[in-house]
Amino acid sequence: MIKRAVVTGVGHYLPERIVPNTEFEKTLDTSDEWIRSRSGIERRHFAAEGETTSDLAFHAATAALKSAGVKATDIDAIILATSTADLTFPSAATMLQAKLGMDGGFAFDVQAVCAGFIYALSNANAMIISGQAQRILVVGAETFSRIMDWTDRSTCVLFGDGAGAVVLEAAEGTGETADRGILSVDLHSDGRHRELLYVDGGVSTQTTGYLRMQGKEVFRHAVEKLAKTADAALEKAGLTHDDVDWIVPHQANLRIIKATAQKLGVPMDHVVVTVQDHGNTSAASIPLALSVGVERGQIKPGDLIVTEAIGGGLAWGSVVLRW
Ligand code: UT7
Repeated sequence: MIKRAVVTGVGHYLPERIVPNTEFEKTLDTSDEWIRSRSGIERRHFAAEGETTSDLAFHAATAALKSAGVKATDIDAIILATSTADLTFPSAATMLQAKLGMDGGFAFDVQAVCAGFIYALSNANAMIISGQAQRILVVGAETFSRIMDWTDRSTCVLFGDGAGAVVLEAAEGTGETADRGILSVDLHSDGRHRELLYVDGGVSTQTTGYLRMQGKEVFRHAVEKLAKTADAALEKAGLTHDDVDWIVPHQANLRIIKATAQKLGVPMDHVVVTVQDHGNTSAASIPLALSVGVERGQIKPGDLIVTEAIGGGLAWGSVVLRW
């Protein structure tokens, strides 16, 4: 018998305000047609004034706890993936802890930009396997609308706000690939590519800054690296693309999602796609897609899922799990 970290609950939250592509036509030299054809995005949600990342996280976490049938006080730890925390410190995770009414356990943020949820899952898995925690709330939450340069048409049309969360619990497994839970993890980063995707401000420079991206170059890295990391994770788990029920990819661009699925040899009717409705929500995109995939009746208990993401750093990775 070995220990596995199994998903027992999932939930998400999207802010009320929905912004269709046509909204950008009013202020920028862009079109609904360009945004749809180049990215697959049709609309995104933006947080209301005063609505923060930990607020979005609170709603998603509450839904995940309900779906798992547990209370916040039953949770040992919170790991929150975000690059847009409410404040420089304390962490958005401890803010979420307070909002949930948790008076014990521990909470911290993980910052790996769009790969943040993969890194957070990896951390949570390691803590559960090593016995440091029994039940962890893993959250991805972002308000990327706050770091958009609204005059830069090449970036501001691509991102959105939202949050998703899962409850991960310790369970007994046999060590076989039929086990439920996280079966393998593959993580990478390469800081030499900093200039491809970054925010040109921060605490040390006394500015907030805006997101800057060399889209074409990031696209090229994404297609190459995502298929490789997903393949590596499958191999570590002792599985192949034939075993995959669902790819749940980072939702940045439909063309990247399709190219990666093709490289992996998985047909598009086995890929959960939400980018048309959410845009790129960075670390929130995978838990959002997991939750929407369950809601749509796509993801079912026992399904073999491959998640993969890449973002600023560059940082990328993949987690293979059985739902
Ligand atoms: O989550 C982190 C990971 N991020 C990503 O994965 C994003 C990766 N990159 C992409 O998704 C794509 O590269 C984009 C959607 C950002 C851009 O698509 P592309 O096919 O690579 O277009 P491009 O950057 O080569 O731009 C083509 C043209 C350019 O004009 P010229 O130079 O050909 O005259 C751009 O100036 O499209 C122009 N353009 C726009 N036109 C209308 C750029 N943004 C816009 C826009 N509306 N919003």
